[in-house]
Amino acid sequence: MVICPLPPSPSLVPLPTPVPRPRLPAVAPRLRHPRPRHPLRSAAPFGVPVPRCPRSRPAPPRPSGTRRRRHRRDRSGQSHRWSRDSTGTDTGKPLQTPTPPGPERAEPLPGATTPGETDTDRHRHRHRYRQRRPRVTRMLSRSQPSAERVPSPEEQEWAGPEALCPGWLEDEAPDGEVPGDSGDPDGATHAYERLQSALCQEGLPPTLDCSAEPRTGFGPLDMTVCILGCPTPFLPVLLEGGTRCPGAMVLCLSPTWASRVPSESSPGSWSLLLSRGVSFKVGGHSALETFEPPRRANYVTGTFAPGDPEGGWVGELARDLDCPTGGSVPLAHRLEDTLVTRWVLAARAGLPVPPTLAFVLGARGDLPAEPAAPGVRLVRLQDPQGQQSLVQEEVGAFLGGTAMEPYGQVVVRPAGWRWRGTGTRSTHRKEEGAAVAQAVGARLRGLTEEDSVLLEAMVPTARLPVPPPRSPAPRLPMALRICTLVCRSWGDRPQLCQVACAVGRAESPVRHGAALPQGLDSSLQQWGVVAPGQRRALATRLREATEAAAAALLAAEAELSPRQRGGARARTDILGVDFLLACVDEALELVALAANGQRCLETCALAEAMGRGVGEPRGELPRLLAEAVLHRAQRHLVEGKDILLIGAGGVSKSFVWEAARDYGLRIHLVESDPEHFAAGLVQTFLPYDSREHRRDEEHAERVLELLRSRGLRPHACLSYWDDCVVLAALVCQGLGLRGPAPAAVRVAKQKSRTHRHLQRCRRGRPPPAAFAVPCRRLRSHGDVERAAGAVPFPAVAKLEFGAGGVGVRLVENAGQCHAHAARLWRDLRDDADHPGIGLGWGNAMLLMEYVPGTEHDVDLVVFEGRLLGAWVSDNGPTRVPAFLETAACLPSCLPADRQAQLVRAALQCCRACGLRDGVFNVELKLGPAGPRLLEINPRMGGFYLRDWIREVYGPDLLLAAVLVALGVPPVLPARPAPRTHLAGVMCLASEHGDALAGGGGMEALRELHGRGLVRLNRLFEEPEGAGEYEEPLLSVACAGATLAEACERLLGLCQGLGIDSPRYPVEHFLSHFK
Ligand SMILES: Nc1ncnc2c1ncn2[C@@H]1O[C@H](COP(=O)(O)OP(=O)(O)O)[C@@H](O)[C@H]1O
Ligand SMILES: [Mg+2]
Repeated sequence: MVICPLPPSPSLVPLPTPVPRPRLPAVAPRLRHPRPRHPLRSAAPFGVPVPRCPRSRPAPPRPSGTRRRRHRRDRSGQSHRWSRDSTGTDTGKPLQTPTPPGPERAEPLPGATTPGETDTDRHRHRHRYRQRRPRVTRMLSRSQPSAERVPSPEEQEWAGPEALCPGWLEDEAPDGEVPGDSGDPDGATHAYERLQSALCQEGLPPTLDCSAEPRTGFGPLDMTVCILGCPTPFLPVLLEGGTRCPGAMVLCLSPTWASRVPSESSPGSWSLLLSRGVSFKVGGHSALETFEPPRRANYVTGTFAPGDPEGGWVGELARDLDCPTGGSVPLAHRLEDTLVTRWVLAARAGLPVPPTLAFVLGARGDLPAEPAAPGVRLVRLQDPQGQQSLVQEEVGAFLGGTAMEPYGQVVVRPAGWRWRGTGTRSTHRKEEGAAVAQAVGARLRGLTEEDSVLLEAMVPTARLPVPPPRSPAPRLPMALRICTLVCRSWGDRPQLCQVACAVGRAESPVRHGAALPQGLDSSLQQWGVVAPGQRRALATRLREATEAAAAALLAAEAELSPRQRGGARARTDILGVDFLLACVDEALELVALAANGQRCLETCALAEAMGRGVGEPRGELPRLLAEAVLHRAQRHLVEGKDILLIGAGGVSKSFVWEAARDYGLRIHLVESDPEHFAAGLVQTFLPYDSREHRRDEEHAERVLELLRSRGLRPHACLSYWDDCVVLAALVCQGLGLRGPAPAAVRVAKQKSRTHRHLQRCRRGRPPPAAFAVPCRRLRSHGDVERAAGAVPFPAVAKLEFGAGGVGVRLVENAGQCHAHAARLWRDLRDDADHPGIGLGWGNAMLLMEYVPGTEHDVDLVVFEGRLLGAWVSDNGPTRVPAFLETAACLPSCLPADRQAQLVRAALQCCRACGLRDGVFNVELKLGPAGPRLLEINPRMGGFYLRDWIREVYGPDLLLAAVLVALGVPPVLPARPAPRTHLAGVMCLASEHGDALAGGGGMEALRELHGRGLVRLNRLFEEPEGAGEYEEPLLSVACAGATLAEACERLLGLCQGLGIDSPRYPVEHFLSHFK
């Protein structure tokens, strides 16, 4: 590669007019310093090596002013010719609607803030303007700034998505009046028509007008996800959401359909009330409805993109709301500012970006001085004195710097939300320093303090050897742009939803909407990435890069003040990130360009919809987005709700108090220990001794009295503590709240009763009886012989109401059973002997056939008997003759069909016992003949399960339990995809006490946990139970991209900390996970 770097600045022509700004010294370090690594190389190397990839070539020098033609030789040795001139054609299509039979205009509600006349006028004007807008041909010059003028503020205002996405998602509008002239000043009729057109294109029925009969009765537990503005970008979300939660998704097409009222829950903010909207039902059916009284939104998002015709009223309605708001005008402006997002992508996500020199006026507080963004140099022009020479100097240094070495062309363009999509830019050869400086100078004139001028390398798309062409026709140099859409998923984690590529001519940037989208895999293949492994590696890398980009952008956004965000609850939930595929140091590299608010959504939605035209199954996009917004709405729904908790639990449940605060729950806690540490962490602490569980009915009465005396009327009641599940069910029943029936919980709580009950359930194929195991009660030694006659040996003798695996023992014959029972009845008499393991119901035992096979937990979310979510985890071998848990992993290593057997068996057992509403933990073993039930825990899974499921899959069992208890079916991932693999071991005080306490192991574990390198779940503060009644002290887990990786890390850790020993062979425990 031949590069002729310019000398630092001597030959630059003077700038035409100095920009009158005060000047302060530039803060960011100069780019002139050589960099140790390639500017596009990410900090962590991830490039996919490409054999024999040609480096990008600088364009040969060309006398300016001549017609520009360029020759380039591709790898096959062919020479191609193409014109440098490029035309950018405006797409302003007439937006017209025939006089429609659309919805009538609703009157604004009293107190509604509707945009004033000026807004309406401007809106109308925009439509007219767009219709008359002339076609503009843009000339790209290499030696001087392009001839087009800076758009007037008015032009900039409307140069929005339509300018970017010519005609996308819109049918040709027939001739007719423009909306502004047809008595549709707010554009509702027009938007309604667009919705009908989009529904028709999807093959869906038109919206039913049901507005004559107002819908009533929406209450605080009804979900309302409100989408404001343009109907098309969010249509896939509305349709999917309508199927998942019929009636919850409401499209608001006009500012007159909604009103803002001061919020009751958060003073200073507003509630959004909908009096009219298009709501979506199962199967793509939609209805125009009126709501009386108006319905309160739990979640609001809309088309905030700058330049969107609806932008004004959408932004105004969504400002400072008391419910979660997906985006806002200020956030959209930030996302549309290439400089801001590129800065974050480079500085905080560590992604390669095109080498960029940015000039800003004034202080630009939104661009932090630290950390320095590799590849982005920021020059703050604050003093007009000497500005011209500073610009020249900076431009010279940039063009001649090492970062620019691989590139031959640069682009000068203004950046900032007003400029997004205007296509305003000029292209230059690197050698033309004077022209570049002049172009920058010209752009600086008239720049506002919100904008910037960017000088950036034009990064060519990697050129790879492709199969010999079938025809001798010349190959045109093309560019590939990769557009990704990411959403803020469960636990606020970014999740890639869809990738769509666009291919265009290489000489000008490929713009959104300029071509029909295509898939990543086929694009890479077309590009010459022939090895499937390489394409997979790039796809993985793209996912990582996109999610890292979104995480960085969201983190930066979270640091803004509520005012800067457009409301305390405003957060970006859906965003796009654009990438280029470049060749850097002989390797393929993804180069992040910038983020955007809506264009990637439109492109990706189109890609998704197009697939169905050729019979492709529905992609993940609508599902992921709908789940993300519905989940957010549900989180808002639980805010401020009064939850009656029965039993606080020990340190293993410490997460509850923090989670309750995060979710905004008002907890009223009934707890036997008057000194419990949670007393100060809840809204109301109700000490009540319920440890004698044989009197739970009486306790329930007392608790109800207690509530009445305090005037408490909880919205929901639940328990996650094994000992309190029956009491909670009784209280629930007494309060008329949703929960599992007390009789069902009693059946589940008593192990022998569960199995005997299931044995009688003989309906179904297979019937629930198929999962039951022979067992007999042991109330005294007299029962042992009878039981031994009915239950074959080896068998398991354990406590009827036990928990935590305490007192479980493998017995080979009646003698051993007698001996174990004698010891147990001597040692464990009541709750005080070993709290929390069900001794409040007595110490009766059972003898149960030993079930062979692998052991699994299935955690279920069930609503009205319907399965809403299930997660299967695997347990390692238990330590016999007691059955202490040793190791576990999530996700399960079982193939899907075997997991499905477990889930189906677990659900059938729960339903057969009458457990129809709640979060349940079912323990099963899977043998050659299928699953067999060990026990049902009619509560959320214990130990580490809630933490692990959240970490691996996102959803929170606790939140799911609260939602079910409130009577709301939780929205959970329909297709749960693990984000990581976890493997963990249990530590015992008897085995590991010395290593953990004495050897400093505990401190090391805490430190590693703090750094996110291990997951530590403490089960007890102090060693619990001694000898054969010991319970595990804590669970230590490691994550990995694969289970093998997680296990390897965990084993290394256990060896290092002395958790692994010949008596506690961790390698053996983990060897079961294959
Ligand atoms: N019938 C059985 N066959 C095989 N293993 C069993 C059987 N019953 C219990 N176990 C083992 O003992 C452990 C604890 O038993 P479980 O009934 O779940 O009691 P707990 O309620 O105390 O957890 C189980 O996880 C399993 O490993
Ligand atoms: Mg158990």
